[in-house]
Amino acid sequence: MTAVDYFRVVPGAPLRGTTTVPGDKSISHRGVLLGMLAQGETHIRGWLPAGDTESSLRTVQALGVPVERHSATELTLRGGELTPPSGPLNLGNAGTGIRLMAGIMAGQPFPSVLDGSEQLRRRPMNRIIAPLTQMGAKISGTNGRAPLTIEPAALHGIRYEMPVASAQVKSAILLAGLFAQGETVVVQPGPARDHTERMLRAMGAPLEVDGNTVTIGPTDGLKPVDFTVPGDASSAAFPVVAALVVPGSDITLTNINLNSTRTGLFDVLQAMGAQLEIVETGLAAGEPVGTIRARHSQLKGIEVGGELVVRMIDEFPIFMVAALAAEGVTVVRDAQELRVKETDRIAVMSAELRKLGAQITETEDGFVISGPQRLTGAEVEGHDDHRIAMSMAVAGLIASGETRVIDAKCAADSFPGYAETLRGLGAEIEQLALPPVGTKSG
Ligand code: S3P
Repeated sequence: MTAVDYFRVVPGAPLRGTTTVPGDKSISHRGVLLGMLAQGETHIRGWLPAGDTESSLRTVQALGVPVERHSATELTLRGGELTPPSGPLNLGNAGTGIRLMAGIMAGQPFPSVLDGSEQLRRRPMNRIIAPLTQMGAKISGTNGRAPLTIEPAALHGIRYEMPVASAQVKSAILLAGLFAQGETVVVQPGPARDHTERMLRAMGAPLEVDGNTVTIGPTDGLKPVDFTVPGDASSAAFPVVAALVVPGSDITLTNINLNSTRTGLFDVLQAMGAQLEIVETGLAAGEPVGTIRARHSQLKGIEVGGELVVRMIDEFPIFMVAALAAEGVTVVRDAQELRVKETDRIAVMSAELRKLGAQITETEDGFVISGPQRLTGAEVEGHDDHRIAMSMAVAGLIASGETRVIDAKCAADSFPGYAETLRGLGAEIEQLALPPVGTKSG
């Protein structure tokens, strides 16, 4: 029997002060997955020690790559030579981990099986199986889902026009392209996050970017890099929205990744009237980093659609909370990808927010919210989806009475220490565990 863990949230207290957030999840995944291909020692500081990234790291180790752990957030790995794994590679809940790993494994001279949690097994994999198969890969899924079975095959370059703007799909194809004969060209419909391109270029890969088109050629070897992962803009989104919606708040977050493929939420919030000051202070891991100051603001409703959606794709759960606090109507379109994330984030967020009394109209590719709305504290669920659990905790900060978010531990898939970070800013939130059902007290 396992204990039921939950966030207990009480509204009212303003968030104030200066802090930062853990390292970027996307860059941490790429650091170890690309590092294992580089000839020599890759040194990573600011690594995200979270559920998803640790799953990627374990698979790298299962491929025979030595990893020296200097601390929770600092590691060195010696890449260049992979050995066949002794069993299936388990990517846990990590969609990025399994899709990028599939591109890499398609080019290896040994077979592999990629698998993960029940939740990961529900996510669509045809989006990578189709282009990798076009490249000559021998990869098959189970009804288009994990587990994925990969056999050695000779790969050749292709030109691929992606039907959806997905950085995971783009990255899987580019990584397979490293092992393919000839050039591989990926055309994306919109500006999906470009961390793979930045890192591959820093490692000396023959990669060119022209607008939304990325071209890569095969390489004899990548050179290892030494870098510091900046704070994750997607994690920063939670304290930022919390500060905007809780009266009296004024917070500053330092060392945040400000890559423009990731900052769509901040642009939208500013257009809604948010007092958000963003200052670029330098570069880390080839990415712009800087400081974000967020102060309580009366937000106004807005319409979001088109290319902006991919630049804030992970932020829609927390954006729903901002929309509930905003005056007027917020309409989101073109966001159907939300339905195939860790959960169907349109359906799950709408259902959980309704438990707090919210009124939300779901559409096939988004939602409509009229605000501001009054929320009432209640018991809600995290659904083993980190961004749902963290968003619901912020909703609890503007709901009257107490809110309990059951299944809080999934927040650590991307943001270890979430409750501590918000509490450090003054919010009344704690992560607690109820004893297992049937446990006798006394
Ligand atoms: C990611 C890409 C996005 C994003 C995910 C991380 C990445 O997924 O939602 O959290 O690191 O490449 P898609 O590629 O499916 O859009």
